Amino acid sequence: MSRKHHEWKIGQAPPLIRPHSLAKHRVLKAYLERYVSVLTSNPRQERLRLTLVDGFAGGGRYLDSRTKEERPGSPMIMLEAMDVAADDAQRVRSKPFHLDTQYVFVEEKKDAFDHLRAVLNDSKHAKLVGDRIHLEHGEFTAQVPDIVEFVKNRGRAGRAIFVLDQFGYTDVPLETIRYILSALDNAEVLLTFATDSLIDYLSGSDQTQQILNKVGISLPSSTIATLKEARDWRRAIQFALHDQIPARTGARFYTPFFIRSEDAHRDFWLIHLSGHFRARDVMVGLHWKESTSFAHYGRSGLRMLGYDQQRDAKWAEQRMLPGFFFDETALASSQEELLEQLPEQVFKFKDGVAFCDLFSSLTNECPVTAEIMKGVLGDLARQGLVHVRDKTGAKTRRAAIQHDSDIIIPSQQRRLFMR
Ligand SMILES: C[S@@+](CC[C@H](N)C(=O)[O-])C[C@H]1O[C@@H](n2cnc3c(N)ncnc32)[C@H](O)[C@@H]1O
Repeated sequence: MSRKHHEWKIGQAPPLIRPHSLAKHRVLKAYLERYVSVLTSNPRQERLRLTLVDGFAGGGRYLDSRTKEERPGSPMIMLEAMDVAADDAQRVRSKPFHLDTQYVFVEEKKDAFDHLRAVLNDSKHAKLVGDRIHLEHGEFTAQVPDIVEFVKNRGRAGRAIFVLDQFGYTDVPLETIRYILSALDNAEVLLTFATDSLIDYLSGSDQTQQILNKVGISLPSSTIATLKEARDWRRAIQFALHDQIPARTGARFYTPFFIRSEDAHRDFWLIHLSGHFRARDVMVGLHWKESTSFAHYGRSGLRMLGYDQQRDAKWAEQRMLPGFFFDETALASSQEELLEQLPEQVFKFKDGVAFCDLFSSLTNECPVTAEIMKGVLGDLARQGLVHVRDKTGAKTRRAAIQHDSDIIIPSQQRRLFMR
């Protein structure tokens, strides 16, 4: 992600946007629309209060590098997504629906900040500036306590989405995300993290340790040296990072998907951190839709992200290299692996387990949606390995799982057989 693609000045042509950033924008827009649609699925609901924060807002407009057409920057995408979401919610209601959104756009660079303000004032959203759109010129982390207070003062639910599209990996310390997620029960974070740049930078130097301390990652020089000896050391370091990001941010649910960039060795991660499995499920669903633009670093199946030194030597023989691309191959492979691996997980619960609990416990390690996992459990039910009942236990589900609260019960006969 080079800086020249993010430089704005009033009176000059906006910077060129490249395909991987457009893909990231598509996911952002689709995610925001789905977010509102999931939270307003009850047609009796008349209002939803939400705060959208763009911590690295940029100048608001780009030119498409291929077509030279104008493209919106992330703040404009947020505004457009909320317009679409409000229309969608209204369409299924007879009473007026109020999508009560406040926006906080933070930008450190004066030229970009002025450009963003000019783009907004020139748009159909101009009347919202100063009322619903709050423009903050400054450094993001310094604004966080005030933004958190602002969200809290808007009501108990504290729904907020923080889009943190930093250039590299040092501007959003993991501690800042921990603070946001612990202060606001219903906050989510979409973080860009330039994993490959960090990996290129890592060395045994004191300066590396200072940078890692700033980000909040613990990788002592001795660990870096050991990881660098691994055959696929880039991947080994990615797995080390993968373990630390959720641990250091305190996020219960997250997706670490990488975005392929055209520049060699410049892939970066789009990390979604949240406190609810349904939020993660919506995000994973969008990655399957965007199959050619996103890839998941790891294998298919469960525990696909756990790095195992022992397996490193065999890495090249493993399935799904060089990546997992959310395509038909990835789907078939995921289904096959889950058919093998899920029975062991279900058999840990001899009295049965609710689908939502099973899915919540496995979802961070596995890039499938609830729908895909339900499909595989349906196959296991047809094979007689598990039974499915409704939450009262009274009704058997012949057509497999219908509700997240349905209970999956291991078959006793098969259980003995599998010992
Ligand atoms: C990758 S660009 C963001 C692009 C924008 N999110 C979009 O998709 O349209 C990063 C932006 O963050 C700004 N920036 C860099 N460091 C910052 C910081 N610490 N706080 C706030 N803004 C920062 C840069 O000036 C730049 O405009």
